[in-house]
Amino acid sequence: MMERLTIWPLGLVNFVAFCFLAIVQSSSAQKGFVSLRCCEKSNLTDSNGIVWTTDDEFFPDRQTCQEILRPVKNSKGNYIRTFDIVVPGKVCYHLRTLVPGQDYLVRADFSYGDSLAPSLFGVLIGVTPIALVSLVSKLAVEGIFRVQKGYVDFCLLKEEGDPYISQLELRPLNNDSDYLNGDSGTVLKVIRRVNLGGTGGDIRYPDDPSDRIWKPEAEPIGGIINATTEFHNHTRAPIKVLQTAVTSSDRMVLFSGGLDIIQYNYTIFLYFLELNSSIGVGERVFDIYVNSEKTWSGFDIQGQGSIYREVALNATASGSLNLTLAKVSNESVVFGPICNAYEILQVHSWVQESLQGDVDAMLDMRHELLQSNSKSEVLATWWGDPCLPIYWQGLVCDYSNGSSVVTKMDLSSSKLTGFIPSGIAKLVYLTEVNLSYNLFSGKIPSFPTSSLLRSLDVRGNDLLSPIPGSLFSLPYLTTLYFGCNPHFTNAPPASFKNSNLTTDHGRCTDLESPNSKKGLVIITVACGSVLTIALGILIFCLYRRKCAFKRYDIKGYTVKKNAVSSIPSKEDFVLKSISIQTFTLQCIEATTQKYKTLIGEGGFGSVYGGTLPDGQEVAVKVRSATSTQGTREFENELNLLSAIRHENLVPLLGFCCESDQQMLVYPFMSNGSLQDRLYGEASKRKILDWPTRLSIALGSARGLTHLHNFSGRCVIHRDVKSSNILLDQSMNAKVADFGFSKYAPQEGDSGASLEVRGTAGYLDPEYYSTQHLSAKSDVFSFGVVLLEIISGREPLNIHRPRNEWSLVEWAKPYIREQKIDEIVDPNIKGMYHAEAMWRVVEVALACIEPFSAYRPSMADIVRELEDALIIENNASEYLKSIDSFGGSNRFSIIIEKKAVLSPTQEQAAEPSPLGSQPLAPPEPR
Ligand SMILES: *[C@@H]1O[C@H](CO)[C@@H](O)[C@H](O)[C@H]1NC(C)=O
Ligand SMILES: *[C@@H]1O[C@H](CO)[C@@H](O)[C@H](O)[C@H]1NC(C)=O
Ligand SMILES: *[C@@H]1O[C@H](CO)[C@@H](O)[C@H](O)[C@H]1NC(C)=O
Ligand SMILES: *[C@@H]1O[C@H](CO)[C@@H](O)[C@H](O)[C@H]1NC(C)=O
Ligand SMILES: *[C@@H]1O[C@H](CO)[C@@H](O)[C@H](O)[C@H]1NC(C)=O
Ligand SMILES: *[C@@H]1O[C@H](CO)[C@@H](O)[C@H](O)[C@H]1NC(C)=O
Ligand SMILES: *[C@@H]1O[C@H](CO)[C@@H](O)[C@H](O)[C@H]1NC(C)=O
Repeated sequence: MMERLTIWPLGLVNFVAFCFLAIVQSSSAQKGFVSLRCCEKSNLTDSNGIVWTTDDEFFPDRQTCQEILRPVKNSKGNYIRTFDIVVPGKVCYHLRTLVPGQDYLVRADFSYGDSLAPSLFGVLIGVTPIALVSLVSKLAVEGIFRVQKGYVDFCLLKEEGDPYISQLELRPLNNDSDYLNGDSGTVLKVIRRVNLGGTGGDIRYPDDPSDRIWKPEAEPIGGIINATTEFHNHTRAPIKVLQTAVTSSDRMVLFSGGLDIIQYNYTIFLYFLELNSSIGVGERVFDIYVNSEKTWSGFDIQGQGSIYREVALNATASGSLNLTLAKVSNESVVFGPICNAYEILQVHSWVQESLQGDVDAMLDMRHELLQSNSKSEVLATWWGDPCLPIYWQGLVCDYSNGSSVVTKMDLSSSKLTGFIPSGIAKLVYLTEVNLSYNLFSGKIPSFPTSSLLRSLDVRGNDLLSPIPGSLFSLPYLTTLYFGCNPHFTNAPPASFKNSNLTTDHGRCTDLESPNSKKGLVIITVACGSVLTIALGILIFCLYRRKCAFKRYDIKGYTVKKNAVSSIPSKEDFVLKSISIQTFTLQCIEATTQKYKTLIGEGGFGSVYGGTLPDGQEVAVKVRSATSTQGTREFENELNLLSAIRHENLVPLLGFCCESDQQMLVYPFMSNGSLQDRLYGEASKRKILDWPTRLSIALGSARGLTHLHNFSGRCVIHRDVKSSNILLDQSMNAKVADFGFSKYAPQEGDSGASLEVRGTAGYLDPEYYSTQHLSAKSDVFSFGVVLLEIISGREPLNIHRPRNEWSLVEWAKPYIREQKIDEIVDPNIKGMYHAEAMWRVVEVALACIEPFSAYRPSMADIVRELEDALIIENNASEYLKSIDSFGGSNRFSIIIEKKAVLSPTQEQAAEPSPLGSQPLAPPEPR
């Protein structure tokens, strides 16, 4: 809530000016590499030695930046950059100083932490769409293409919500890798690139000089073998990838995964290196099946005299692909298939950009216009190709001789200043130009006699006479308006070649006055933009035929279209978590890179950070061998979590229960725990402000309410504490760790004896002494959490003076004496609304009542916290209104506020909290 982006329209405008100055930097160590971490504040070198730079030179505006905390620091960019652009609109990274004729791979990361306003956008290399990114689809996109000019635009095409990006990489490919077979007419989208038998992490630069990322197989598909032979020949796949392989005695399904539902052609590369030197020719022979069709019969790696062989296969598939190797049943064949690595690439046709001359002319024009119009809103939308897949604002394009060309330009009433750019005369298919009612100065540009120009309107500027002679001889010109240019002195032109010409003869008549013109402009602009939108959508729909549907395909569930495309934060959430996955141990190990990054420890065991093969970042809870909680808790949590879903509860993605290992996979909560934000490491970086604390309190109260009212049977959390309240990307609270949860004993249950569990400092004294568990025990613990939120103190700290050890015991007397100031976190002093604070303090006090009967229910608490939040928000609104109205109508605002506050009898009777909180609105007299 607090971290919601505020993006100023001008922000986007500003970067346009810089875009063209941006020159791609390349480090000498990684020649030609472009490694951008969006919004990063400084350069950094990662553990692979790759030097990452910020993308500030492309987009200097940091207001579009949003920080995401990753489980593995520096594993990926720590920010995302979002783009607030209008529909239809696109934004592009203009990557320059590339080598024409060279193959490159471009890789973009769209991981977003765990939640972001839903958005949907296309990803384009040049103007070729290769992917559609949404919350539920691929988070990383990689394409291989041949550079034709010295640059490429990597563009995001907005569909819904704001496009965003975390990092962008460009890598020149080794000429020998020749994925494109010399064919510049295709773009390959990488579906999968697997290092079979790999047990460590990803293999990439410097092991792969081209920095392709070879991922280990998540699921075991055969026995793993390691290299025993030395092999140093040049291969398309890096040696390190070839050093491991998987094998099977009979048959092996390499890939049997989901693909786009639309039919595509695929290129499959298979890499084989015989790792067992004792196996000879004819002893390991197998067939290669693609979608159950025998594509290669009797394949023998050593059949050509070398122990290495690579195979390229073509396949056409939609929906799924099954790649199987099966041993040939023949007496002399002793060994089953082996494979070291494979790649699956989806073939896209390269979409031709607009006519090169027009692209260059428009880029020149933009460059010229930006000199004196760096804040122009129109120019801020001009990215990438002027016509494809949508027209730049103010342009209309058409097809001519197989290329898109600019035919019309309407920049009327766009507040443009400076000279009319000369590049306009280079647009050879241009027929209509309307530059009226801007602030252009200088002369009307000349057009070549070959120009197809039919209409030119430059009224209402500050242009100088005379009309260039060339206009007189334009064969198709039928309309020319140049009136209302105050410094235009000389007489109207004598004769035009075209006698049918309609002209105002330079008169600034009533008919053409700015007022009557205004209506015209609005109409034409409106029509113009409707047309652009319609065409844009049409073009995108045409594209979509090729790249759609991925978004509707979630983990094997085909979801109805509007389930995802209708701004579906909740729906989407449900969809995402509809199925609980079972993970294999191997998959978990690959995900966590063998438990490389410990991100937390809990009663259940350790928590590790990791990334699923689809790019989603996760936290994996692993039961430690010494854990006192057993299988019971594990199954308990599983059963509960699979059934309970709420936006304020951490959802379970999947689990692994294999060879005595118990693991749970959750989405990674990028903003850590409430505890950490209040008084842990994170609090040192940034103070958690009061309104955010309040909304976190409310969120977690709602989560607990859901638990307590779960399907008629109360579920008691039993370990409510600030370290179990996690925060997602938007600082929404999500209650975690149901390992302790129990269904509350129901009437008739024979004295379910449950050992007292919980965390010191949070423990309900009544439960502790009677061992009678009820939902009110959670309420007590929640009261302690509220005190933590108020005071920023830990519940138990024996390093403080004796009377301050226990937060509850310390705070209670102050609250009773209404000395709220004494207990409020010094970091938020003066930054809260007193009434809101008082409400929360009251709730907290009620929660920590020694007798559970006097404590409120979670539902009551939610209502109180909602009130507090309303009061707090109104106070902020109120402050804003003082700012904007200069205090003149303060009184009426206060009246309104009073109506909202309307304290209940009981509360009105309470003495008003004292203190000098500056945010409290002055009382009306
Ligand atoms: C980052 O690296 C680039 C190229 O390696 C260099 O030009 C730039 O000055 C560096 N920026 C900082 C802040 O160090
Ligand atoms: C292969 O090598 C890896 C790493 O060196 C090792 O962990 C694994 O046990 C080896 N596997 C076999 C079958 O030798
Ligand atoms: C796949 O390739 C074949 C042969 O090159 C071509 O005729 C067909 O149109 C392609 N299919 C798709 C979906 O691109
Ligand atoms: C994949 O194809 C092979 C060979 O046709 C077949 O035996 C196997 O059952 C298929 N596997 C799956 C998962 O479809
Ligand atoms: C390495 O390449 C050379 C030349 O291409 C070839 O003669 C030789 O057999 C290869 N060695 C192996 C082990 O494949
Ligand atoms: C696969 O398709 C490409 C492009 O159409 C073609 O050049 C190549 O020869 C094909 N390969 C096979 C093995 O059919
Ligand atoms: C003038 O207009 C008429 C009718 O619209 C057309 O036939 C004629 O060719 C035009 N003359 C010129 C010089 O374009």
